[in-house]
Amino acid sequence: MSKRVGIVTGCGKGIGLAIVKNLLSKNEDNYIIGISKSINLELKDLEKFYGERFLFIKSKIDDTEKINKIIDGINQKYGLINFVICNAGIRSRLSISESSLDIYRNVLEINTISNINIAKKFISISLENRVASNILFVSSIVGSRGFDQLSTYAVSKSALEGFMRSAAVEYAKYKIQLNCLAPGFIESSYSESFKQNKKDLYDWTIQQTPMGRWGKCEEIADVASFMISEQNSYMTGTTIYSDGGWTAK
Ligand SMILES: NC(=O)c1ccc[n+]([C@@H]2O[C@H](COP(=O)([O-])OP(=O)(O)OC[C@H]3O[C@@H](n4cnc5c(N)ncnc54)[C@H](OP(=O)(O)O)[C@@H]3O)[C@@H](O)[C@H]2O)c1
Repeated sequence: MSKRVGIVTGCGKGIGLAIVKNLLSKNEDNYIIGISKSINLELKDLEKFYGERFLFIKSKIDDTEKINKIIDGINQKYGLINFVICNAGIRSRLSISESSLDIYRNVLEINTISNINIAKKFISISLENRVASNILFVSSIVGSRGFDQLSTYAVSKSALEGFMRSAAVEYAKYKIQLNCLAPGFIESSYSESFKQNKKDLYDWTIQQTPMGRWGKCEEIADVASFMISEQNSYMTGTTIYSDGGWTAK
């Protein structure tokens, strides 16, 4: 296999960090650029351990001008970028009456518009250079199912899935694949406080999940790793669920 260069956003913790570790440890041809809001010890250790195969760049994805410059810089430094995993995202848990329009705008700006910006930039580079490429958005089961107090998040993820399907159809002929990966409830950075402070809700999520447990970040990383791999050569415009059976009900 030959060198593959990929970007992973929101790589500081949770699912994004697990994806970066998976890609670096399971395939030595992967060169990964992680973009996230802040640096931490684990990221510094990964830089030391993997040397030129892992580079961390500190940036918010909603700083769209900076992100565009970063992607141009990566393209110049590494040669062409093969895949982008748009994982960074935020959540807001409030009723509709408590959610101001500014909260809807803010969640939409980070979870949707910022990712559309990254996809547009990456698509234009792929078209210019006439190369095949692969974009994976991390969505959520909330993108396609109704949940109490998650309407802002639902708007952002369902819009992202809508963009993904249209872009997949528009760019399939240029060998640009776009898909979404929609996790169910996953043991990421918020899970401990969720279990302690929202015990009833946590118990409800366990009852509602046919597998009877939350998923692990590593389980999501394994699916993501396949979805951006060269083995995934015919899937585009699809949302794949990794949710312990939640959406099968
Ligand atoms: N965990 C779940 O149950 C679950 C379920 C379905 C979908 N998802 C989706 O999976 C993705 C990852 O979730 P997670 O639970 O792993 O989240 P997480 O543990 O909160 O980690 C999110 C990462 O993204 C970074 N980030 C947040 N906002 C950013 C921004 N504006 N620009 C750049 N980086 C930013 C954070 O930076 P810092 O390290 O500086 O905080 C952090 O490293 C999200 O899109 C989420 O919606 C999660």
